Order: sequence, then structure tokens, then C-alpha cells
Amino acid sequence: MNKKELETEVKRRRTFAIISHPDAGKTTITEQLLLFGGAIRQAGTVKAKKSGKFAKSDWMEIEKQRGISVTSSVMQFEYQNKRINILDTPGHEDFSEDTYRTLMAVDAAVMVVDSAKGIEEQTKKLFKVCRMRGIPIFTFMNKLDRDGREPLELIEELEEVLEIDAYPMNWPFGSGKNLLGLYDLYHNRIELHRPEEMNGGERFIPLTAEGEIEGDHKIKNESLYDQVLDEALLLKEAGNDFSKEAITKGKLTPVFFGSALTNFGVQTFLETFLEFAPEPAEQETVEEKVIEPTDEEFSGFIFKIQANMDPKHRDRIAFLRICSGQFEKGMDVTLSREDKKMRLSNSTQFMAESRETVSSAVAGDIIGLYDTGNFQIGDTIYSGKNKVTFKELPQFTPELFVKVEAKNVMKQKSFHKGINQLVQEGAIQLYKSYHAESYIIGAVGQLQFEVFQHRMRNEYNSEVVMTSIGNRIARWISQDQLDENMGSSRNVLVRDRFDNPLFLFENQFALRWFSDKYPDVELTALL
Ligand code: G4P
Repeated sequence: MNKKELETEVKRRRTFAIISHPDAGKTTITEQLLLFGGAIRQAGTVKAKKSGKFAKSDWMEIEKQRGISVTSSVMQFEYQNKRINILDTPGHEDFSEDTYRTLMAVDAAVMVVDSAKGIEEQTKKLFKVCRMRGIPIFTFMNKLDRDGREPLELIEELEEVLEIDAYPMNWPFGSGKNLLGLYDLYHNRIELHRPEEMNGGERFIPLTAEGEIEGDHKIKNESLYDQVLDEALLLKEAGNDFSKEAITKGKLTPVFFGSALTNFGVQTFLETFLEFAPEPAEQETVEEKVIEPTDEEFSGFIFKIQANMDPKHRDRIAFLRICSGQFEKGMDVTLSREDKKMRLSNSTQFMAESRETVSSAVAGDIIGLYDTGNFQIGDTIYSGKNKVTFKELPQFTPELFVKVEAKNVMKQKSFHKGINQLVQEGAIQLYKSYHAESYIIGAVGQLQFEVFQHRMRNEYNSEVVMTSIGNRIARWISQDQLDENMGSSRNVLVRDRFDNPLFLFENQFALRWFSDKYPDVELTALL
């Protein structure tokens, strides 16, 4: 690929994650998007994987039980001459630091909200990470075919809870059984929910600049249309201004209403999203350089490591976001952390239905590299002569903690080796109690513990015993402000792996109590 071809290829990449609270409809909408892109042929494909019906024998046990599919964690398809990469962000019990880290590898996020529920906890957490990165966020208010909350109320809640401005791109006519359609403010047209029932199958009705229906169209309940048109026009006048720049900076979220299940509003969403979704972004390095995605030298960073997908091979897959240049099978690269040269011979691209071998991929794409233990999360690899090290990925404050011990006290060596390697790799966070040498590990989701236990057994031959100490609020304290008497059973004092002290508070109450008692002490959280 010459420079010009590379530029053309990179500029048509759109890489984004879909975030939502479980059950808001992330899988359903993803599937619709894949259908539009021709990446799957039948609805239910991704879903069946999720429920385990299609589980392949070579997934690790935990994956099988939970039906997590690696192949659906990165999906690629073509639409309107754009190459789209969707990254899944697992929710529920599968929630882990990887979920957060995935957001480090995308250029935009789509937030799916259940219109009957509004903004929920897990969305809030993920949203925070998106905002920290300043990436554009697009909102899809889903399940409009069911009775939900008032659109205006949803928009207000979104703005208030997430502290972001919102701009409705369309506005529903009715809801639930009475859902007639959407007033598409952005395209100045009406999109009908069931066009076959009232407009001879024609989905879109164009409007005049004044919002009048153009031409002769049969629609039901004209008075409702008039009412919604008036409402929406008012909203356009009184609401936030539409600004592409504000969208790009993540300060304004365009809001789309629709129903993923009945495939209503999804295509409009996709097409409008593609108008505004950014191209692969430049990245800054520790060496204080800016790496342009169209630079010819290849570079990328690892944001996730998935272990043991195939127990027969005990392989791991390191997920790499390509930041510049082109990946070619068999290429020689340098692992920045160790200045080590290596050849990338085995790699894989992910699709909804199958794992395909990559022959070439460019900046913006995500590839999986088979790994035998060379990579850690956050690692940079590059092909040029000049060293490239992308900035460290942020650490996230764990919320769940367990005490961990080797079941067999005679096997301390493999226990320590396993823990140290898994911690370095970024699979889990490690803490030590302040005086005794007991180990506490922290995670943001329960799955991380299960994966940890499984990998300790399978890769390090170490059975571990974990005793939950439950949900805790972790807050760091500076060494000079620390007085060891501050610790108690309600705020356990521990050290992180860099020896920094922190408290694990039992709950908000314990945290407040502490802050009241020691008003001068500054407590900090990670992200
Ligand atoms: P998730 O990935 O965000 O967890 O959500 P998922 O797509 O699995 O959707 C959760 C449930 O909500 C599913 O129902 C799904 O069919 C339903 N759903 C998704 N989008 C819509 C929508 O636009 N309207 C309505 N009415 N329902 C929607 P389920 O009963 O849990 O699963 P299933 O048995 O239907 O597969």
C-alpha cells in the first residue's frame, strides 16, 4: 500500500464502542448494524452466541458458561464505503477493567439507553471514562415500541445526570402501541414506524422548511403529527444549538430515538452517526511526539488480553489498536517496554461469525495477536527506527475485593509467580495488608476473579482460595498524611503494588465518617 492508498484506507475507518446498562438493547442494536453491513445474514446470530447456543468447544470454560464470545468482542463491516469497527463492552457480571480499557481503543461511543428506564448505573460509569477521553458520544434511546418515559424527561435526565448537553436528532410521534413514527429534525422528514400500514410502504415523508408535509401522503392521526411537529419545532428553538464541533469534543450528544427490536430508526441512526463519527485520531507518546494515523510506520497498543480461549493450546490473544500505518502478517516490530524485536506472524481479525486471519489492517483497526506471554496491557509495538511508547492506560478504582491464598502452602512459588504475572499483565489489581503479608486482590467486576482463579489453576498450576471482603470504596492517602492508627475494621489500610497506602472503606458512611474525623486528609480515587 502506498502512502496515498494508506491515507484513503485510514480515513474511511470508524471505530467505536457501544456502551449501555445490561438489557438496554446493546446486542439487539449491534445485530441490526451488522445486518445492514452484511456481516451477518440472520438476526439472532450474536444473541445466540450470548446465550451460549452457538458456544464453540474451544472457548475456555468460563466463557462457555457465560456465553461470552471473543469473536463478537470486535466486529467489522462495511457500510457506505466506511470500514466500521464495533467494540463490545461486556456488562453484567462480565464487567471488568477490560470493559473500561476497551474505551481507550475507540474514537467514539454509542450509548444505548432503555427509554423506560433512563440513565442507569453502569452507563454512568462507562460514560465517565468516555468523557475523560473527550470522545464523541452518540445516544440511542431504545425500546420506543414499548411505553416508556416522556422524551423530554429523558433528555433532561441525560443532561442532568451525565452533565452533557443533548441535541435531539429526531422526536417520537407517540410511543408503545401508538408509536407512529419519528420527526427527523436533522433530515427534516418523517420516518414512519409501520410504513406498510399507512404510506404504501414508503418509510420517509419529506417536509418543507416550515415543517409541512410535502406532497400527498396518507398518515394516521394527523392532529398528533401537528402537535409533535409544533413541539419539536419549539424544542429546536429553545434547546441547544447543533454544533459539529461540540459533538466532536464530546460536549454535545446527538440523541436518536428508535427501537432496535423492530429495526426502527436504526438505519437513520447509523447513517447520521457515520456523518459525524470521527476518523482514527492521532495519539501522543511518552517521547512527546504525536503519531498520525496516516504515518507510514506501523504502531499500536495492547488494550486487552484474553487468555486461554483454546485450552488445548493455552494461547492468549492480545487485542491491539493500530494507531498508525499498516499491519502486515509476519512483520517485524519492537516491543517498546523491553526494546525487544519480535515478528508478528500469528494474528487474527474478529468478525461476528468467525475468527478470520488478517492479512492486512490499518490504523483504526483492531487485531488480535496470539501471545505466549510477551505482552502486557498498555504495551506499545512499532515498526520504525524511532522509539514509540504510547501513554500509559489509566487505572480504574476497583470496587470488589477478595483475600487470596494458596490452597497448598507448599506451593508458594507458583502462587507468587502466577499472581505477579497476572498483576503485571493487568488482569487484576493486587494489594497487601499493611503489616501482615496477606494478599488482597481487587477488581471492578466479579468475572475478573473467576478468570484469575481459572488462570492460576491452568497456567500456574496453583489452586487459590478466595475469601470475599465484599464491595469496598478504595481511596488513596499520601504517605505524609498517613497515621497508621487511622485504620480500623471499617477502613482497612493496605498498600498497592507500588507501595502507596490506601484505605478500603466499608461503605459511603465509613468514608464520610473518616472525612469528618480527619478533615485535612486528602483522599483520592483513580478513575
Ligand atoms: P443487552 O445486550 O444490552 O444486554 O440487551 P439485549 O439486546 O440482549 O436486549 C435485552 C432485551 O430487550 C431482549 O429481550 C431484547 O429482545 C429486548 N429489546 C432490545 N431492544 C428492544 C426494543 O427496541 N424494543 C423492545 N420491546 N425490546 C427490545 P429478552 O426477552 O431479554 O431477550 P430475547 O429472549 O428477546 O432474546
